[in-house]
Amino acid sequence: MKAVRVHAWGEAPVMETVPAPTGCEGRSIVRIEAASVGHLDRTIWRGDFLHPPSLPYVPGVEGSGIVEQGEALPAGTRVWFRGGGLGTREDGTWRERCSVPDAILAPLPDDVPFDAGASFFSPCTSAWVALHEVGVVRAGERVLVSGATGAVGGIACQLALGAGARVFGAVGSAERIAQLADGVEPIVVDRRAPRTPKDVQAELLIDTVGGATLAALLPSVVAGGRAVLVGYLGGAQLALDLTQFIQRDVSLLPLNMLRREAAGHAAAPALLARIADGSLRLERRVFDFGQAAEALEWLGSPGHRGRAVLRWGG
Ligand SMILES: NC(=O)c1ccc[n+]([C@@H]2O[C@H](COP(=O)([O-])OP(=O)(O)OC[C@H]3O[C@@H](n4cnc5c(N)ncnc54)[C@H](OP(=O)(O)O)[C@@H]3O)[C@@H](O)[C@H]2O)c1
Repeated sequence: MKAVRVHAWGEAPVMETVPAPTGCEGRSIVRIEAASVGHLDRTIWRGDFLHPPSLPYVPGVEGSGIVEQGEALPAGTRVWFRGGGLGTREDGTWRERCSVPDAILAPLPDDVPFDAGASFFSPCTSAWVALHEVGVVRAGERVLVSGATGAVGGIACQLALGAGARVFGAVGSAERIAQLADGVEPIVVDRRAPRTPKDVQAELLIDTVGGATLAALLPSVVAGGRAVLVGYLGGAQLALDLTQFIQRDVSLLPLNMLRREAAGHAAAPALLARIADGSLRLERRVFDFGQAAEALEWLGSPGHRGRAVLRWGG
């Protein structure tokens, strides 16, 4: 059986032949159709994960496929899955067949393609939880989203519009404006020298960029407003002027989806239904499993858009 394996942290993964998984109680054998390449996979692959798997390992924390053998769901069922230690504590989804804990198997509706089923969970549920559970968005509010054409930011914009908010989408360069979802008001915050935008005020900031972009956008949040901190691709440090911070009384609210995975799973079926009916759109680029190294590089490069997904013959 073929699998993509990493032999040293940060080194290009290679396609190899490995033993096929065997069935056991509480797990099902799934033929993998698609596997996501996300930022968590990149963090683990670089060796920066707090509890890394032992080398060599097969990456991949999310996937979709068809049940071949197991007790939980009939053979032939289309499924998606994420977590359960796949790609972290044990080998992950970047392979032809995978032994998946039954507890994380969920049916994938027929009208959702495998590549969407493999990649929707992290961006869609992160955006949903950031908006509705952490930021508690209300209809009529103004929501400012940074990284608004990224995977999480793009979904956050669409969900905020759907929740009846007025949405400002902050992008790092003017070329990104055309990639914003319909109805999102564009704001360019130059990624190299971010500045506070003029004439924009919001009750809620969903920040997926961090660093200097976050520092530039915080003054755009009204006094008493909320800022949900999602990511830090643009920098992990934030200097606060405590005088202003206390006077303005803006709540800084971290999102930690590893702690909120249950909320993500609860929201997943409704999000999948919206992907199926076309009211939620997640950009993705498909790579062949043999191009896993290129997919990791693409996801880390400026200018990429959405998620990378691996497929056999993709
Ligand atoms: N806290 C959590 O539980 C949680 C959950 C999911 C994701 N995340 C994190 O959220 C962040 C965003 O995830 P995502 O999937 O939306 O990422 P993404 O699709 O790669 O998009 C990130 C956006 O950030 C902007 N950006 C700014 N500086 C960048 C840089 N140095 N490199 C790349 N992009 C940069 C880009 O927009 P411009 O080109 O317009 O600047 C890009 O569109 C990641 O850090 C991810 O790890 C956190």
